[in-house]
Amino acid sequence: MIGSSMMYNKIIVDHFMNPRHAGRLEDANGVGIIGDPGCGDFMCIFIKVENWQVKNVSFLCKGCPAAIASGSATAELAHGEPLEKVMALTPEDVSNYLGGLPDEKLHCSNLGVDALRYAIADFLGILPKEDAGDAEASAEE
Ligand code: FES
Repeated sequence: MIGSSMMYNKIIVDHFMNPRHAGRLEDANGVGIIGDPGCGDFMCIFIKVENWQVKNVSFLCKGCPAAIASGSATAELAHGEPLEKVMALTPEDVSNYLGGLPDEKLHCSNLGVDALRYAIADFLGILPKEDAGDAEASAEE
């Protein structure tokens, strides 16, 4: 494990070791990516929205254990929920769900929420064209 395992509580370690909703969602109708899949850490969130509800969600992530746990927690918090509620999720919600991320890892919880917001914007068709292009190209990799 990267860094000291003492800095992570049991919930974080569980989500890192057994991430929920990991992988690609083939029938997604919204995809959001933060970071650079080509050369650095990234988070990609896939959502399948039906009747304004997030029916399914998944994530791909390259990053530290806190980032992977945050992707898992973000997906859990979004799964099955109304889009309006999912749009209001914050990094604090993700950290709280995980029982509290260490201060120096709080920024990692931003990755999941930011990628989720891009995925929602993609679904709504309001993602800026250059970002939409990046998302499509990266999702093909
Ligand atoms: Fe960079 Fe967590 S993803 S420190």
